[in-house]
Amino acid sequence: MKKVALYIFLIITVIACNEQNNSKEGVALETKLKFKEKYRPQFHFTPEKSWMNDPNGLVYNEGVYHLFYQYYPDATVWGPMHWGHAVSKDMIHWEHKPIALFPDKQGFIFSGSAVIDKENTSGFGIDGKIPMVAIYTYFRLDIEKKGGINTQTQGIAYSLDNGETWTKYENNPVIDNTTLKDFRDPKVFWHKETKSWIMTLVAGDHVKFYRSLNLKKWDEISDFGKNQGAHGGVWECPDLFKLKVAGTNEEKWVLIISIGTGGPNGGSGTQYFIGDFDGTNFTSEQTEFKWLDWGTDNYAGVTYNNTPNSERIFIGWMSNWQYAVSTPTKEWRSAMTLPRKLSLKKYGDSYLLHNYPIKSVTSLIEDIKPKNIKIEPKDEWVDVYESLNKTEISFKTKSKDFVLMLSNKKEETVSIKFDSASNLVLFDRTKSGLVDFQLDFGNKLHYMSIDKLPETFYEVRILIDNSSLELFVNDGQYVMTEQLFPTENYTSFKIENNTDTSIDFTNFRVAKISSIWE
Ligand code: FRU
Repeated sequence: MKKVALYIFLIITVIACNEQNNSKEGVALETKLKFKEKYRPQFHFTPEKSWMNDPNGLVYNEGVYHLFYQYYPDATVWGPMHWGHAVSKDMIHWEHKPIALFPDKQGFIFSGSAVIDKENTSGFGIDGKIPMVAIYTYFRLDIEKKGGINTQTQGIAYSLDNGETWTKYENNPVIDNTTLKDFRDPKVFWHKETKSWIMTLVAGDHVKFYRSLNLKKWDEISDFGKNQGAHGGVWECPDLFKLKVAGTNEEKWVLIISIGTGGPNGGSGTQYFIGDFDGTNFTSEQTEFKWLDWGTDNYAGVTYNNTPNSERIFIGWMSNWQYAVSTPTKEWRSAMTLPRKLSLKKYGDSYLLHNYPIKSVTSLIEDIKPKNIKIEPKDEWVDVYESLNKTEISFKTKSKDFVLMLSNKKEETVSIKFDSASNLVLFDRTKSGLVDFQLDFGNKLHYMSIDKLPETFYEVRILIDNSSLELFVNDGQYVMTEQLFPTENYTSFKIENNTDTSIDFTNFRVAKISSIWE
């Protein structure tokens, strides 16, 4: 009798497992089909469906990189914010996870960060489990609608199973607010020297720094920026961290600040300050504006906490508040930039923050032999491909006078002009395809100043992914991230030499990039 029961049990288990496998395959197949929609990036992170904005809670823990993000699951426009969630082992291939944080009676869940509380300073850890703690802003739309200004406070939540499930702290908010209209986006890190948590928070036109010993009780310690940097819009999404200056033992602190309007080419932009942080005050002698990305589509970017080897890896939201809700996609809206490694270099007296795709991106790129080409005066090099929708174009050159051009059979064109007379790169997407879904998208040339580009050979690297183009000049010294919506894939790539001397392009490659969803 016992044997019969065991036999029946085994049969039921086998059937159940098969069904589970089939349904898993079903999901995988569905994902593959779904992720083929027009304009869907193939090697950048996108949510499965609906609206996404800022990256949140970037943290590495137990072998996985977490990407939380501002998410509204019920529409492809901004709405009551949740924290969406995805995980990855290499920051290139992503697995979508269930929503991590839902709005509650204290408000929507706005941007913030996550830390690994290794010493259990918060006391959230039980049975020796190390808590992952999320620090975020609560936003009360109902108060704002009634004209109130005390809409934003800071809350925390914790997870004891590596981000799978979350519990909100019962005594939220941990930082209350009755006077400031804009008061948000806490970025927290462990400051070894003072053995305390430091929070960088934006408050309209400046940042405020807070200190805590347990992530629950916070003391304001200083502020920065009222009279420094670009102030074309409200400050958002700060990040503060230390970096070594390449090739030296010098260490500097970097403060990243996004501004909602007033970016270098209109709308949203990300500036940074190089300075020092003594555990209480951040100071910077910088007088000029510094832009992390000159393109229009890299916003609200921040860096990972707790990475192996303390690498500084940055991810930004590949859009712009000017037109983010109007871009021509249907099932989902917005993508993240490629993860980029940050490094600090000194040019004369000036420090520049480089940002450049992390190495694992190369695993997706076709391994083809580079070639050297020479373009004679007033001549051009042109080649036609089946499609350039997932492509890396790269080369080295000494010249600062040439034009790169992508186009399709409908004569939709993107051009990137390097101009030594003005020391500018001019990015033209005015005729790149669909541009009129919003006035600001395609109404003007975008410029990037390349005044500190060395006179020696430097690299130009372009990554095209269906509806985005990322341009990296000299290993990320100068960067432009731009969305593009051609009605057909670009198929032709051209380099024009409009000067009176020949130009050498070495290590030239046009390589295909594979999809992360296949
Ligand atoms: C930046 C931002 C943040 C805010 C979030 C709301 O894009 O405005 O300041 O927390 O988006 O979704």
